Amino acid sequence: MATGHDKVETSVALLVILTVLVIAVGGLVEIVPLFFQKSTTEPVEGLKPYNALQIEGRDVYVREGCYLCHSQMIRPFRAETERYGHYSVAGEFVYDRPFQWGSKRTGPDLARVGGRYSDDWHRVHLMNPRDVVPESIMPGYPWLAKNKLDPGLIQRKMRTFNQLGPGTPYSDEDIKNAPADLDGKTEMDALIAYLQGMGTAIKVRR
Ligand code: HEC
Repeated sequence: MATGHDKVETSVALLVILTVLVIAVGGLVEIVPLFFQKSTTEPVEGLKPYNALQIEGRDVYVREGCYLCHSQMIRPFRAETERYGHYSVAGEFVYDRPFQWGSKRTGPDLARVGGRYSDDWHRVHLMNPRDVVPESIMPGYPWLAKNKLDPGLIQRKMRTFNQLGPGTPYSDEDIKNAPADLDGKTEMDALIAYLQGMGTAIKVRR
């Protein structure tokens, strides 16, 4: 006896139409809410926008290609969380434009390196990694300690970030004070400030 189900399974046309219908409904349920949400990813609680020094440090990180050897993305696997701390969540990266997740780990993941070492450790390590980790294959970056920051673009960078959001990360006051915050600082200072802030919004660490 032909049940309703037999009819669907033996008629190609009916099967195609119903399949498309089911996928369309499923798709709409997922897609339509996105049109009414301002942002799909909320910043995690306690996440702060990068300050002027950190913005410059992050630009040094990108310029020097640190992402070629370091990821900033802890995956939710035990081997990773045991080693690096809480896995990375989307809300930690809302101010990262562009994000530095990376895909290559010649060195360790850096997503939660903030606060793990002292500023002095980073200074020595960045000058010549082998002074603190004898077997390291990371190159030294001694010129960063000599290069003074150029405060010429920081205000424009901050205004651009204000346009990109989320929200308005920087007040007029922040922008006004930014060049003074960079005064006399080196690229090394900036990079270390950036590294020390990394992943610190989520406190859980083993
Ligand atoms: C050629 C690959 C390579 C590049 C490029 C590189 N690193 Fe590394 N990095 C490593 C390796 C390997 C280690 C592990 C040994 C060590 O600690 O030196 C490491 C370790 C580190 C650590 C210590 C991490 C930890 O949890 O112990 C930090 C911080 C770091 N690198 C920052 C940087 C920064 C900032 C840059 C760019 C200026 C950079 N690295 C560029 C390979 C690299």
